[in-house]
Amino acid sequence: MERTVRRIPQNEIQDQLGYMHKVRSIVSKKAEQRGSCMKYCVITYGCQQNEADSERLSGIAEKMGYVQVYSEKDADLILVNTCAVREHAELKALSVTGQYKHLKEANPELIVGIGGCMVSQQRRCDDIKNSYPYVDFLFGTSMLYRVPEFIYKRLTGGKRGFYSEFGAGCIAEGLPVKREHKHKAWVSVMNGCNNFCTYCIVPYVRGRERSRYKEDILEEIRTVVNDGCHEITLLGQNVNSYGLDLPEYVGKYDFSSLLQDINEIDGDFIVRFMTSHPKDAKKELIDTMARCEKIAPHFHLPLQSGSDEILKRMNRKYTSEYYLGLLAYMREKIPDICVTTDIITGFPGETEEDFEKTLSLVSIARYDMIYSFIYSPRPGTPAAEYGDQISAEDKNRRFRRLLDLQNQISYEKNLSAVGKTYRVLCDGLSKNDGGMYTGRTAGNKLVHFPCNEDMTGRFVTVKIAAAQPYALLGELVQSDISQ
Ligand code: SAH
Ligand code: SF4
Ligand code: F3S
Repeated sequence: MERTVRRIPQNEIQDQLGYMHKVRSIVSKKAEQRGSCMKYCVITYGCQQNEADSERLSGIAEKMGYVQVYSEKDADLILVNTCAVREHAELKALSVTGQYKHLKEANPELIVGIGGCMVSQQRRCDDIKNSYPYVDFLFGTSMLYRVPEFIYKRLTGGKRGFYSEFGAGCIAEGLPVKREHKHKAWVSVMNGCNNFCTYCIVPYVRGRERSRYKEDILEEIRTVVNDGCHEITLLGQNVNSYGLDLPEYVGKYDFSSLLQDINEIDGDFIVRFMTSHPKDAKKELIDTMARCEKIAPHFHLPLQSGSDEILKRMNRKYTSEYYLGLLAYMREKIPDICVTTDIITGFPGETEEDFEKTLSLVSIARYDMIYSFIYSPRPGTPAAEYGDQISAEDKNRRFRRLLDLQNQISYEKNLSAVGKTYRVLCDGLSKNDGGMYTGRTAGNKLVHFPCNEDMTGRFVTVKIAAAQPYALLGELVQSDISQ
């Protein structure tokens, strides 16, 4: 097995803290000279793991004395955290990066760093190096902790830097973090993936699985809970294999043990986790969820396809029968559980019959919600080389059929919530519905409700009055004024 350094040694982190300090002096001098503060903007594409990484980037920028802005045109430092999971995500990041040319012309002191999954691929690294000369540096997923050094080098006249290679390890403890919310927090439990599903780029851009030590995870959770956090989402590409890369944990401490330990931390909070691979989601995990009152009744269990033939070609290592068995066990042990999934339409070789099998499994499973994706060939993955690619027309048609079916199911499920009362964590004012507040149930259902007082970050009790396919509408019963 490939040996990797799991943690970046503390002396290297100390070096980076040193760079942050040096950048801070430069930034404060510049700010003084021009009479206004230096500003940074972090732009994030992709999944929650990237959101979590971006909170580290913001923490680093703040520590260096930059002040946050949300529009790139106002910034002196732009950090873009990219995604590579589908072509669309890459094209978007590239097109946005293209627009920075004008910003750099207007402000030659602007520093642009592009990081994350997209630039962890050599071909994208080369594209940017050659075609985007105004990009100052690239940092792959394992190089995020060295961003202070890269910025320092550029600020002191160093050359452009391209750090896309996969470093020895990418768990960096002790970096500053600026969390976007006070009431909910991402907590990464592991990085990387060993599964190599044949369509997926993630193992190539995030490297092999590396688990954080439980002490570090538990300490982070205690800290955010003490700071008033009410919802923790544990992150990893496959949280169910937590600890399997740590020889001292194998057979002794796993994801269920971690959930159990988190459940024992004092405080009024709920815990979610994502993502689980069905092949590793064991009954013991479901038993633990059923037992632990702080673990939310919410399970994201990616199916990808309902056809055993396609699952095999995807290298998913389970069958539809096994998957449905797991789902049945979950619903038996946790009757109010909300289950969501990911499905890909138009994987190479998917026949109409295969697709019908997906539709039929979706009808049986009756998910609360699905995230469906049109298959996007990723250069470097096995499926991109398969000869039997599906036409864009078929992929799109299947995608729409799947969506129509799920919309109906989601609506029916939401209708069954009408009249019931839920504890909802309020996220703030609804973006689309002026005046309404929005929040989520423990099962992660979106709830909108009118309210006169700002309840952001608090638990409230809401009685559901009406349903939409993707949201519930309700009325406040009482506020949880104990917080
Ligand atoms: N580790 C997670 C998923 C990470 S990617 C898991 O295994 O569930 C999130 C989702 O993107 C996947 O579940 C899959 O449905 C989708 N996806 C990944 N690669 C894709 C591709 N090449 N084309 C379309 N969708 C893809
Ligand atoms: Fe990609 Fe599969 Fe790993 Fe998920 S489990 S990140 S889909 S390779
Ligand atoms: Fe995208 Fe990387 Fe996440 S490829 S989905 S940002 S792990």
